[in-house]
Amino acid sequence: MYPGLVHAHSGLRWIALILLLAAVVVAFQRWQGRSGYTDGNRKLYLFTLISVHIQLVLGLILYFVSPKVQFDGALLSDKVYRFYTVEHITGMLVAIALITVGYSRSKRATDPTTKQRFVAIWYGLGLLLILALIPWPFRIPGAGWF
Ligand code: HEM
Repeated sequence: MYPGLVHAHSGLRWIALILLLAAVVVAFQRWQGRSGYTDGNRKLYLFTLISVHIQLVLGLILYFVSPKVQFDGALLSDKVYRFYTVEHITGMLVAIALITVGYSRSKRATDPTTKQRFVAIWYGLGLLLILALIPWPFRIPGAGWF
């Protein structure tokens, strides 16, 4: 089960990243162009939210089964253990919280431009944090591209 979970979590990063990028670009353009909020936008923003929440669920399960999460002395001395045990989870939880706040504030807003602005800013911040905390193979030994 463990290898399958790692592959699912690793591969889904691309879907989440593509959706996030599309959501931020669309929201930014519509915010700046002052164009309206449509059903199509809402679906894109919702699917993006769902994709990062699926990552959250897979990540939480992995946190309990992964050999890369360690709470002994190795945590402080080993860069890989420290990354997965502390940095990756903390950063991703904050990023997913930002995206969730953006979605709900956008949903509650009444003005169409404000709806787009909330998504552009909160999803944009979430995307930057996620990009910074993905275990890219050139940064974290043993990480893969898919
Ligand atoms: C959008 C959010 C997230 C993205 C894009 C993401 C992405 C990734 C990627 C690309 C890997 C590397 C897999 C590999 O080695 O090929 C990984 C590993 C891991 N992630 Fe996440 N992650 C996210 C959120 C989370 C969260 C919220 C948690 C914990 C609650 C988490 C826990 C883990 C763990 C424990 C591993 C190590 C798995 C292993 O190789 O044993 N992730 N993540």
